[in-house]
Amino acid sequence: MAELRIAVIHGPNLDLLGTREKDIYGTRSLQDIDDEMLREAEKQAVSLAFFQSNSEGGLIDYIHGCRGKIDGIILNAGAYTHYSIAIRDAIAAVDIPTVEVHLSNIYRREEFRHTSVIAPVCVGQISGFGAYSYILGLQALLSLFSEKEI
Ligand code: DQA
Repeated sequence: MAELRIAVIHGPNLDLLGTREKDIYGTRSLQDIDDEMLREAEKQAVSLAFFQSNSEGGLIDYIHGCRGKIDGIILNAGAYTHYSIAIRDAIAAVDIPTVEVHLSNIYRREEFRHTSVIAPVCVGQISGFGAYSYILGLQALLSLFSEKEI
């Protein structure tokens, strides 16, 4: 099987991880998370492409650019999760299996975080496991491509 190409996309304010609201998001930096993902990817037949943007348009352009190049997406859209119909439409448009991830458990937090407008166009959602949410997201995405039944 050809190597799977997975995009890991981080939305707004995630570039500040490690210094931002550490009690909620932990002490690992975004680079630490990307490095952990790379270590996990080495164990599997996958290549990872990383992208972070604080702007909605930047995220949408990157998602569009995944067409024909990327087999699956792991997306933490940050606060855009809760209201960006444009990002939701971009995911639906490119038709690439996408797993939504969050470091924090969005359902244990403020009510405005309980809604994800992107969830209906994603394969599934992982929320609340800190940096490990990304690893779980990768494993979940890979299970879609594997022939093994759980
Ligand atoms: C987040 C949760 C969002 O509500 C928040 O706006 C973020 C991070 C998370 O990973 O827990 O920026 O997506």
